[in-house]
Amino acid sequence: MRIAVLKETAPGETRVALTPETAKKFIGLGATVAVESGAGVSASIPDAAYADAGAEVGPAAQVVKGADIVMGVQAPDVAVLAGAASGAWVAATFDPFARKERVEAYAGTGLEALAMEFMPRITRAQSMDVLSSQSNLAGYKAVIAAADAYGRAFPMMMTAAGTIQAARVFVMGVGVAGLQAIATARRLGAQVSATDVRSATKEQIQSLGAKAIFVENVAGIEGEGAGGYATEMSEEYKAAQAELVSSHIAKQDIVITTALIPGRAAPRLISDAQIATMKPGSVIYDLAVAQGGNVEGSVADQVTEKHGVKIIGYSNTPATLAADASALFARNLFNFLSAFWDKDAGRPVLDEEIGDAIRLTKGGEVVSERLKTQ
Ligand code: NAI
Repeated sequence: MRIAVLKETAPGETRVALTPETAKKFIGLGATVAVESGAGVSASIPDAAYADAGAEVGPAAQVVKGADIVMGVQAPDVAVLAGAASGAWVAATFDPFARKERVEAYAGTGLEALAMEFMPRITRAQSMDVLSSQSNLAGYKAVIAAADAYGRAFPMMMTAAGTIQAARVFVMGVGVAGLQAIATARRLGAQVSATDVRSATKEQIQSLGAKAIFVENVAGIEGEGAGGYATEMSEEYKAAQAELVSSHIAKQDIVITTALIPGRAAPRLISDAQIATMKPGSVIYDLAVAQGGNVEGSVADQVTEKHGVKIIGYSNTPATLAADASALFARNLFNFLSAFWDKDAGRPVLDEEIGDAIRLTKGGEVVSERLKTQ
């Protein structure tokens, strides 16, 4: 069983899918591990650290040659996988809804594409869930970056020269990223409020010491769809939410938006007219920018300024914490493959529940029901 890891090639991608720690663990299972030279450099992992862990380090073509499993943060171009074993697995994120042509290309090669972002939200798969591990870091970093761009302090400070007021932070979308954003902003001393469409988050917001801002007067607002994800809301709900947000947002200094609906464009939560009501110097961090953005006027990988308000739109926030993001991503992959390791076969054998959920292609065809039907 040969496991190969390549250097990521997507612009701005600094993460790597293998760490020396997980290399050692895979070798412990009986696998051979090969990693492309320089793959870990942007995550502060030198080639020597992989070699010390027992991995083979070399050029891409040599690493991929005969590989049974290729692991990536973002799925590599199929062209570089030509030397892999027939029907080899590729475990990585595929952005399947937005990149259907890539999925087709994988199907055309006979490779088995395993989309890590389709990991089911079930208890036993929590430790394999790359969306959670990366969102958690993104929520933290969004607050740190917003604090850096903000021309004032977060905590209330009583000094001999006078008192500084605490910053007001509003978090929109309280999934994994939003919860970490709330916790981080609280730790920095801000006054925090938050909103979501899933009513289950209300208690979570309050338990972190933040104020819950919720639409209360529209029926059917549970907002929870399959797998714990949000659903698209009714027009009536959207109108009520916009009104509630309008009155709240004008008083905020920092807004962090994280709202996503799987397989759809991110919901638009903040309009240009609402931004115009905010104080000059306020900061918005749009964590959903890669999926179309929650904020009108946010631009991927740019900081724009509208009405004196800075709008930060980094599309790959976890990549700005390359070392930790790689460590967690690599452990997610190890937890996934090792959970299914069949000692006799000397390789992982997936069960139906998880295998069918994450498998995009097999035997030359696109096999993902979710991709075909959603
Ligand atoms: P996500 O990244 O898909 O979305 C972020 C948040 O935005 C969600 O809380 C969603 O409800 C909210 N949102 C969507 N549309 C909105 C709108 N119009 N206005 C305001 N907010 C809106 O969500 P994430 O972070 O992936 O978590 C979703 C749920 O799944 C959580 O309850 C989480 O605890 C659960 N989960 C379970 C796992 C497991 O059991 N293996 C693993 C990870 C998460």
